[in-house]
Amino acid sequence: MVACVTIGQLVLKEGAPVTSLRSRVIGLGSFLPPRVVTNDDLAQIMDTSDEWIVQRTGIKERRWVEGVTSTSDLAVEASRRALDSAGLTPEDLDMIFLATISPDHFFPGSGVFLQTKLGLAGIPAIDVRQQCTGFIYALSMADQYIRTGSARKILVVGAEVHSKGLDKSTNGRDITVLFGDGAGAVVLEAMEVNNPQLDSHLLSTHLYTDGAHAEDLWVPAVSTAYDEQIVDQRMLDRGDQYPKMNGRQVFVHAVKRMPEAVEIALEHNGYQIDDVDLFVFHQANLRINEAVAHRLGAPEEKVFNTIEKYANTTAATIPIGLDEAVKAGRLQPGMLVALAAFGGGFTWGSALLRW
Ligand code: COA
Repeated sequence: MVACVTIGQLVLKEGAPVTSLRSRVIGLGSFLPPRVVTNDDLAQIMDTSDEWIVQRTGIKERRWVEGVTSTSDLAVEASRRALDSAGLTPEDLDMIFLATISPDHFFPGSGVFLQTKLGLAGIPAIDVRQQCTGFIYALSMADQYIRTGSARKILVVGAEVHSKGLDKSTNGRDITVLFGDGAGAVVLEAMEVNNPQLDSHLLSTHLYTDGAHAEDLWVPAVSTAYDEQIVDQRMLDRGDQYPKMNGRQVFVHAVKRMPEAVEIALEHNGYQIDDVDLFVFHQANLRINEAVAHRLGAPEEKVFNTIEKYANTTAATIPIGLDEAVKAGRLQPGMLVALAAFGGGFTWGSALLRW
């Protein structure tokens, strides 16, 4: 008799064999808040310039939410679009993964708010906190449930509201100009893969972490690591509630780790760089992605970028990129697509998909 653990409507079968089931993306959607904030707009509130930002990062504008809009509000819009494109309703889902580092609240995770806003109850809603690599981590975790036959349809979302957590004075200019708000989502479905060369599916994910660099890109507070309170006036006076970054360290590691992760994915699956039809990298800095493409020997026309319009939307970046690539006609059925991300932690990883 197979022992089972029941969580909501999900039954995890203990000792279930790894099957030939694989994840296929059957739905895709994104949502960007309508308010456009240009580099010139930022230059009105801090000492920066369009020239500096474009030259160093390639970013021209980003989106910021207005009013009470939260991360789960963006997530639910992207999720509805992904479900619509799959021809599904929320009730068809077995699980939800939401990757974010800008949650609605300290706890519970924003996945529970997303679940409620989708009109659901009962199914597991899991938050993933892996920064800019969050979507690839969430994709990988969802894929494990599908491969073991534990779930058939999973919503995987990346969503961020950064604009409310940035230091908008000149003190924060090195980071504030880099980030934007947005959300993207995919719906995964379990399928039997008969022809791995042709069938649309997620081939593999590779995930990495090096916590020695945790403080090279982080938000120090609110925190259980200091004194007695998770937040106090001294922390606020120091600006510990804002992101801090060692930009050079991030740059140096990102241009090394993303190509490594792509190369491992290709080797694992028996493909060469030339076999890849489209690269969708995390969007932190256009110069990083140019360097990554150069190291890989990937031609510019195979690299899809959104950074110019949306800046760095952290966990939302990859699904937004996929959605924009489909809308632009750059990502079509049958293509081999390589995803790679790098972010705080440091964390990094890759995913290879037959679209
Ligand atoms: N506008 C104008 N000047 C700025 C600025 C801004 N927004 N931000 C920083 N500067 C200034 C600095 O104060 C510094 O001035 P100084 O020389 O008088 O001290 C000067 O520009 C150069 O700063 P520096 O940090 O050396 O620039 P850089 O060439 O390393 O580029 C980044 C900075 C942030 C663009 C670059 O380090 C980077 O992209 N790193 C990766 C960041 C990233 O990807 N983060 C997210 C990862 S997921």
